[in-house]
Amino acid sequence: MTHPTGDVAERAAAGFTDQYGGSAAAGRWAAPGRVNLIGEHTDYNDGFVLPFALPLRTVVAADRQDGERWTVWSELSGETITFDADDVAEPGRVTGWGAYVAGVVWALREAGHPVPGARLAIASDVPLGSGLSSSAALESAVLAALLDLGGLELPAERQPRLAQRAENVYVGAPTGIMDQSAVIRCRAGHALFLDCRDESVEQIPFDLDAAGLAVLVIDSRAPHRHADGEYAARRRSCEAGAAALGVTALRDVTVDQLDAALAKLDDAETRRRVRHVVTEDQRVLDTVALLRAGRVRDIGPLLTASHVSMRDDFEITVPEVDTAVEAALAAGALGARMTGGGFGGCVLALVEADQADAVAAAVTAAYANRNFTAPGTVTVLPAPGAT
Ligand code: ADP
Ligand code: GAL
Repeated sequence: MTHPTGDVAERAAAGFTDQYGGSAAAGRWAAPGRVNLIGEHTDYNDGFVLPFALPLRTVVAADRQDGERWTVWSELSGETITFDADDVAEPGRVTGWGAYVAGVVWALREAGHPVPGARLAIASDVPLGSGLSSSAALESAVLAALLDLGGLELPAERQPRLAQRAENVYVGAPTGIMDQSAVIRCRAGHALFLDCRDESVEQIPFDLDAAGLAVLVIDSRAPHRHADGEYAARRRSCEAGAAALGVTALRDVTVDQLDAALAKLDDAETRRRVRHVVTEDQRVLDTVALLRAGRVRDIGPLLTASHVSMRDDFEITVPEVDTAVEAALAAGALGARMTGGGFGGCVLALVEADQADAVAAAVTAAYANRNFTAPGTVTVLPAPGAT
């Protein structure tokens, strides 16, 4: 899908006016995509993650309409859908992309909030299905719009769970709490250190500009192969590992206890899954410690170790992603890893700012050598969360 050009907030506002008979929207609400710096498949294990928000946003222009009726147009699908109170009486009645919007209405009503009828127009610069959380951006922007239009109070720290419920229960995707937390709670110039057990956060300064560094985001363009089923399977393995070890979640196993824990597990695959999660939690803690000490360059090896763990122990990478990581490292990246759920999606590389173009060119050349579809490359700085 080619993305439209022009300012995304203006596209949402203009789309609203075109779709809804010339009237202007009551307001605009935006939520960004995210990348995860480190901490993959740790969120649903009650562990640690460290995402930051992207300068790519989804914007919802909206106003109220009478009755319990919601009309939604998205520039990316080009369609308008309508649903009513019956459709959000229980999960699953609205399908396709509209389910992410209906799911938010459903989750708000389930939590006892009287959601006003609304007309919404959505535009987005976040690529869909690339592992940059376009779905969480959509849910979070819609949630912000409906809360404001209805004069409803829901503190920012409680919004991620509600948006996650829309995705887990209404849409039916068994994802963790990272994406919605990142999209809603991130701040510009910072990475969000989130403890997924109690949802406490710390804003960790991540000032790439000051350090002369850049994060290059590489869209692997790999088709998501069986991503949904494999994600659920990884989650089940982790739960089985925790149960076998007698802990609430894998977060409760530390690296010091890892060898003893692995010795208690009969199944080799479960051992690999557990080792990834336990070591990955420690890599997040180590990354946070380095960033707190202002040692941004030194996080590179932790990023690369995270990738190796995802490739060999968690087994969620694909050839395109591994090629991008290897080519970036060979061209001088300080560290590189796949980011997001896996089986495709994006890679991030930490690079000296003046080498970003050379690293991007090296990845593109490595792709051409292997006859892969050319990758997308963009450098990013940590941007604000939902506004
Ligand atoms: P990711 O969240 O990593 O981009 P997902 O597969 O979880 O990938 O979610 C992508 C889906 O979210 C799309 O296929 C679509 O159904 C929905 N979606 C996200 N953003 C929009 C949008 N702006 N307009 C319509 N649908 C969207
Ligand atoms: C994403 C999912 C997140 C997280 C991540 C892996 O696809 O939405 O909740 O589990 O994968 O770290």
